[in-house]
Amino acid sequence: MSSRSSLARGDIDSPNSFYRVITELPLGGERYLPEELIVTHAGELLTMRGPCRARVRAEMSELGVIKDGAVYVRDGIIQAVGDTPSILNWHDSPGVEKMDASGCVVMPGFVDPHTHLVFAGSREFELDLKIKGKTYMEILNGGGGILRTVRDTRVASSDQLFDQAAKRLNVMLEHGSTTVEGKSGYGLDKKTELRILKTLRRLDAECPTDVIPTYLGAHAVPPEFSGGAEEYIQFIIDEVLLDLPSSGLARFCDVFCEEGVFSIAQSRRVLLAAKSLGLGLKIHADEFERTGGAELAAEVGAVSADHLARPSDDGIMAMARKQVVGVLLPGTPFSSMERDYAEARRLIELGVPIALATDLNPNCWNPSMQFTITLACHNMKMTPAEALVASTINAAAAVGREKSIGSIEEGKAADIIVLDVPTHAHIPYRMGTNLCSLVLKGGEAVFSADRSRADG
Ligand code: NIG
Ligand code: FE
Repeated sequence: MSSRSSLARGDIDSPNSFYRVITELPLGGERYLPEELIVTHAGELLTMRGPCRARVRAEMSELGVIKDGAVYVRDGIIQAVGDTPSILNWHDSPGVEKMDASGCVVMPGFVDPHTHLVFAGSREFELDLKIKGKTYMEILNGGGGILRTVRDTRVASSDQLFDQAAKRLNVMLEHGSTTVEGKSGYGLDKKTELRILKTLRRLDAECPTDVIPTYLGAHAVPPEFSGGAEEYIQFIIDEVLLDLPSSGLARFCDVFCEEGVFSIAQSRRVLLAAKSLGLGLKIHADEFERTGGAELAAEVGAVSADHLARPSDDGIMAMARKQVVGVLLPGTPFSSMERDYAEARRLIELGVPIALATDLNPNCWNPSMQFTITLACHNMKMTPAEALVASTINAAAAVGREKSIGSIEEGKAADIIVLDVPTHAHIPYRMGTNLCSLVLKGGEAVFSADRSRADG
């Protein structure tokens, strides 16, 4: 909120609360859900209006900007969108809460479609190894990396996993992410994988953020199957996958398809088994080696193929034909000190719909879509507009939610964020601080910050 706002002053940090206190909301308290509200006078309202699907090519530059924009919300659903005079004219009445966003950008809440949110421990010590030149795969093959986090996660209790992930989810919410996908993959044994998936379900139930669960049993070969990727894949198919659809614990199945991890054939087996059970599909594809992951994503009908630092031309064309969303994760090469980022420009030119995600995990402790957008513009040459479409409507499509979120249009959930910057071009440009001043989740104010002393 700008300093002119009548709302959202103070940010008392309560150690026992997931939410900052919103001190000057009319009813006080930590969260506030007005029945009816109008966000008024947005310097730029980025509606992302358009077809209800992932946007491609030039569509990725269309933000649907309304100057002096306003949004009318009732019962958590967007009812009307337009310029402030007409929205106030049609929808204002004494009972309607008004939130003044003068001088700010108002846009859909970020959707983060690729995270490994639930894990125990940390891997800050790997930074020294990376600085000395060790690659991500060398650290993993030496028993570190994912396998280190598996050891830490297996011995953590359900409550510990929940408490740590809820804190991360809250930071993500404060930075504007109102819907977050989360993967298992740090248990690998059935018991711990289910514990992670149940933690994701509990996070979805108890935190304001919508959490979409993905089963990623095929993340690494666990030590008890040492050397036996085939055997482990069979275990996933026979012992774990079958229980997932009926329990509702997973919406998607994902595989780390990579040289030295799971081959194309092994990945195909897991994904087809998951598909036959009704799960949606995702793939960690062509990250370090060109294995044909992009082609496999198109072949099996995956909703997204993620990473994509090294897809083949055939793979890119196949993804474009099938409109598989390419989820790019610029935080990952940044944190792994890899030079090769995905070629976003080429993917966009060839018609692949592009989304962005944080990839939050212990190798890449990045909870912020704002930072991800900064990296996407500076290191992958996406324009600010493309990066914002990739973080909202296209990210929603990457998790199958394009009908209900990702744009500010009538009938969609009022997941709306206010950023304290005059235009959208400032979002990737201003680095290293949280620009969010208000986060509405389903019309409920779940975070506000006093940015009246901030620069701009
Ligand atoms: O998407 N590449 C595989 N998986 C994760 C990293 C997981 C980890 O290192 O703990 C990723 O980057
Ligand atoms: Fe990942």
